[in-house]
Amino acid sequence: MNTILVGAQWGDEGKGKIIDVLTEEAAWIVRPAGGNNAGHTVEVGPERFVLHLLPSGILHPGKKCVIGNGVVLDPAGLVEELEGVTSRGIDVTGRLFISDRAHVVCPYHKRLDGRVEAALKKQGGAIGTTMRGIGPTYSDKAARTGIRMCDLMSADFPEILRTRIDSKNRELAALGGEPFDFDEVLASMSAAAEKLRAHVCDTVPLLFGAVERKESILFEGAQGVMLDLDFGTYPFVTSSSAAAGGACTGSGVAPNCIDRVVGVVKAYTTRVGEGPFPTELFDADGEKLREAGREYGATTGRPRRCGWFDAVVARWTRMLCGVDEWALTKLDVLDGFDEIKVCTAYELDGRTLTSFPARASDVARVKPVYETFPGWKTETGNVASFGELPQKAKDYVKALEEITGAATGLLSIGPRRDSTLVLPAHRA
Ligand code: GDP
Ligand code: IMO
Ligand code: MG
Repeated sequence: MNTILVGAQWGDEGKGKIIDVLTEEAAWIVRPAGGNNAGHTVEVGPERFVLHLLPSGILHPGKKCVIGNGVVLDPAGLVEELEGVTSRGIDVTGRLFISDRAHVVCPYHKRLDGRVEAALKKQGGAIGTTMRGIGPTYSDKAARTGIRMCDLMSADFPEILRTRIDSKNRELAALGGEPFDFDEVLASMSAAAEKLRAHVCDTVPLLFGAVERKESILFEGAQGVMLDLDFGTYPFVTSSSAAAGGACTGSGVAPNCIDRVVGVVKAYTTRVGEGPFPTELFDADGEKLREAGREYGATTGRPRRCGWFDAVVARWTRMLCGVDEWALTKLDVLDGFDEIKVCTAYELDGRTLTSFPARASDVARVKPVYETFPGWKTETGNVASFGELPQKAKDYVKALEEITGAATGLLSIGPRRDSTLVLPAHRA
């Protein structure tokens, strides 16, 4: 069974936790897109890990992990992350494979990210990026001036870097940024490259072999569909394909090898950074969601913007990704609410919309139509089955399924691995 897992909102839906649960049934875990802008949290007993580039399956001994060609990889960042997990007893020897086609985030990409954001801010249009150099690296990839892992590993890397750094220093100068010293960049990137060399290979035949042997592959989506470069709230998006299609282009596994798509959704909505967010709450309820849900960024520590569940978003992401089932997370965060709202439609200029608007300025103007549900006012974090949930919580889950048109396969009621209910078996 080959499964694509996607974040179906604006990121931080709890993908890391769900990947950790689904890893039990997988042999391979593949990150196909994004970079260390991602922060995927996994809690196992008293231990808490935040993974940025490493697939979350790395925490399970023996599971094979792939960083695919669609990822943009910051070598120094990955080395630091590897040192972090190995110092906590995780052995990655022989089971971490990095695509030789993955593009490299260079120090100048990160600095350019900051300068471009500063320039946009002056015009009132900052994206609120994670400053990890993601946009500039994917821009170079599309412009065909990027550096890939195979280049970083090659003997002529110094010459390649030399040609790139001169033009990047000119770009930086135009944006008021400090230039880079070639020797320093070469030394630091080469040092990181040596630490990663043993892991770099052509991952396409590896995954093809896995498919042929019927070893299960789990694709760990990063970000969320609403941050997808094509289908998100452009330009307030990331620069990669976060929707399900990105799992195939970002790994080289063909679409007809995919058996299932799981969409991860929170029982409410959050967003970090700028951009329209129709169900955002600016009142005490929004604050309550942030505090109860501990909604602070796993990568940047920024407070996340919070709001009610948006079924227009869920239906849009279900359509784009072919979501077979939801993994519904953070239901427990709603335990203390008297009333819970769900946005079932958008109105714009007096009309009810039938699809998600293409223009961010239109998304910013839509009026959410809400349906209100009674809260259950009971702790749900410790229940062992769906049947044990308070009736009103069950009704809420069923209502979300009806409004979005897809069933819930996994229901998460806490950050830990064991706070997860598998629904079909419990529901009859
Ligand atoms: P990701 O980027 O999609 O992997 O999500 P993040 O790790 O950035 O953010 C999700 C946060 O919610 C993390 O702190 C998780 O530990 C936490 N979390 C995941 N599932 C649940 C849940 O069901 N209940 C609660 N209370 N927390 C959860
Ligand atoms: P995970 O995988 C939430 C957001 C940033 C910003 C926009 C562009 O943990 O869900 P970028 O640095 O990618 O150029 O920033 O995208 N963003 C995320 N928001 N979760 C993420 O990843 C995100 N990755 C990027 O906040 O608004
Ligand atoms: Mg995250």
